[in-house]
Amino acid sequence: MSTTTNRSFWQDKTGVPGTIREAPIPSTLVEDEIFVKVRAWGLNPVDAFIQDHPLPFFKYPLIPGQDIAGTVERVGPGPHSQRFKVGDRVLGYAMGASAMGKPGNGAFQDYVVLDHALAVKIPDSLSFAEAAVFPLCLATAGHALFGSKYLALPPPKAASGSAPRTGKSVLIWGGASAVGSNAIQLARAAGFEVLATCSPRNFDYVLGLGADKVFDYNSATVVDDLVTELDNKGVCAGIFQAAGMTGDAVAPCCQVSHRLRQKPFVACANVVPEGAVPEGVEAKFVFGGEDGRGIYYDTTSQLFGGFLEEALRLGTYKAAPRPEVVRTRGLEGIQEGLDVVKKGVSAKKIVVLAE
Ligand SMILES: NC(=O)c1ccc[n+]([C@@H]2O[C@H](COP(=O)([O-])OP(=O)(O)OC[C@H]3O[C@@H](n4cnc5c(N)ncnc54)[C@H](OP(=O)(O)O)[C@@H]3O)[C@@H](O)[C@H]2O)c1
Repeated sequence: MSTTTNRSFWQDKTGVPGTIREAPIPSTLVEDEIFVKVRAWGLNPVDAFIQDHPLPFFKYPLIPGQDIAGTVERVGPGPHSQRFKVGDRVLGYAMGASAMGKPGNGAFQDYVVLDHALAVKIPDSLSFAEAAVFPLCLATAGHALFGSKYLALPPPKAASGSAPRTGKSVLIWGGASAVGSNAIQLARAAGFEVLATCSPRNFDYVLGLGADKVFDYNSATVVDDLVTELDNKGVCAGIFQAAGMTGDAVAPCCQVSHRLRQKPFVACANVVPEGAVPEGVEAKFVFGGEDGRGIYYDTTSQLFGGFLEEALRLGTYKAAPRPEVVRTRGLEGIQEGLDVVKKGVSAKKIVVLAE
């Protein structure tokens, strides 16, 4: 491939594997964009889902993918992008960037254009594979916890790893998922006591991320146990359903809220089905975008350039879940990775390395 050519992984319609095609690299960058050579892609459940099922907010043909880590090749002329320089190692949330000027543009390309605010400089101690686990799952967790339309908790003030405790608790349902792993760390960094659910095989993993207490979501008494524990602790500031599907995860989260004294808000990573929310409980699907700048731009831009960059530099934030790298390198490995994601994962993120 010449340096004037990009390659992208296209999803032309549902029900077919992705196709790799070439396109020219843009000659100019808009204002505060940076141009990045991708070294690793992180794969999310939605990337795999839209291969087989249409979603209303995706129009085919499209370039899927959201999560990348790589090196800066060019920096746009705007003042904000000047905090980056050529050669910087970065992670970035590629969805919502104006890369290549094509509709539905996403991360699965050899080169991507990133909005400066959705990119984070990463330390040398973090591999590209580790860095690629973060963007979408951390953005979703951050929006659920700190977004004004969701739990609206005060975000972390410092990245030092020793936040003063608020005396309030948060429940993360699905603490071993990629979204949950980051929700636990963010909630702890913001000073909240964290209760989490996962399978027993992941208890140590979830406790290692900072959860104070962990419960098996498959237990017949999990709702009772959580209600008892949360009520004993005092104020529950919110519940985040960070894994599972509507019936097996949204519903029990709503039941916990219903039985708690404060009826805390339930932010849901998955769609809230009609009839699942009891009287007196407020539950809402975490989703939204602002002005075409990509979903969660407000909270993500604040977390990425502020807390996350500093916490990664200080080593107070873990790359979680751990990356599992597929055998095939380059865009040719994306389909292999998506096929693994379709089978389901536990406490790991499927990552494809570029080289
Ligand atoms: N709204 C959004 O913008 C947004 C963004 C990203 C993701 N999502 C959605 O959020 C969910 C999590 O995404 P992800 O990337 O974090 O997924 P993931 O890492 O692939 O999730 C796998 C984990 O889910 C856990 N899990 C499965 N069923 C569960 C249940 N009933 N209760 C609790 N935990 C359960 C498993 O835990 P154990 O192994 O411990 O059993 C497993 O570790 C997905 O449904 C995804 O589509 C939504």
